[in-house]
Amino acid sequence: MEQIKLTIDGKTVEAEQGMTVLQAARQAGIDIPTLCYHEKLTPYGGCRLCTVEIEKKGKTRLVASCVYPVEPGLIVKTDTEEVSKVRKMVLELLLPLSPTGPIESLAKRYGVEKSRFPGEPTGCILCGLCVRYCEEIKGACAVTFVKRGTERDIAFVPEVASAVCPVCRECFPLCPSGKAATLCLDGTEFAPLA
Ligand code: FES
Repeated sequence: MEQIKLTIDGKTVEAEQGMTVLQAARQAGIDIPTLCYHEKLTPYGGCRLCTVEIEKKGKTRLVASCVYPVEPGLIVKTDTEEVSKVRKMVLELLLPLSPTGPIESLAKRYGVEKSRFPGEPTGCILCGLCVRYCEEIKGACAVTFVKRGTERDIAFVPEVASAVCPVCRECFPLCPSGKAATLCLDGTEFAPLA
């Protein structure tokens, strides 16, 4: 695979053509926060927490680093004021849905103490990690997105989940809010694995 060079936070970084900016940054030891990304899954680009600033032909713009491919000569900044504003906004929107745990910790890291936005503390931030893991890795499709727009949610497919989930539970630790472990299956709450 062809190697290319780009600059991330002032550091020259080598990456393979076809990698994403996030992968190149992490390979170089540069931290970019993520919520809907998992290295084993197809990038989704849903949460935008991984936003970075790129510069191309003298023009800058914000992109989701988990889906943006590396290019030769690309200049990436992961920690600008604009980047920070986007991450704060993302966390402010998610905090009411998942006010404790990893989202709360990330919010604190970005100086978000409380949110201006309403939201039910459902625990689900719609990152889709459980849905994608179940489909792409397990081939089971026991959990799925349902409804659209502001009603969008995830739900287990009872006839599949009742057979698959009790002996799998592999999606539980992926859930950024811990919600997957307590979602109902046919009215029965899963207990977290000991
Ligand atoms: Fe990139 Fe969610 S981690 S959009």
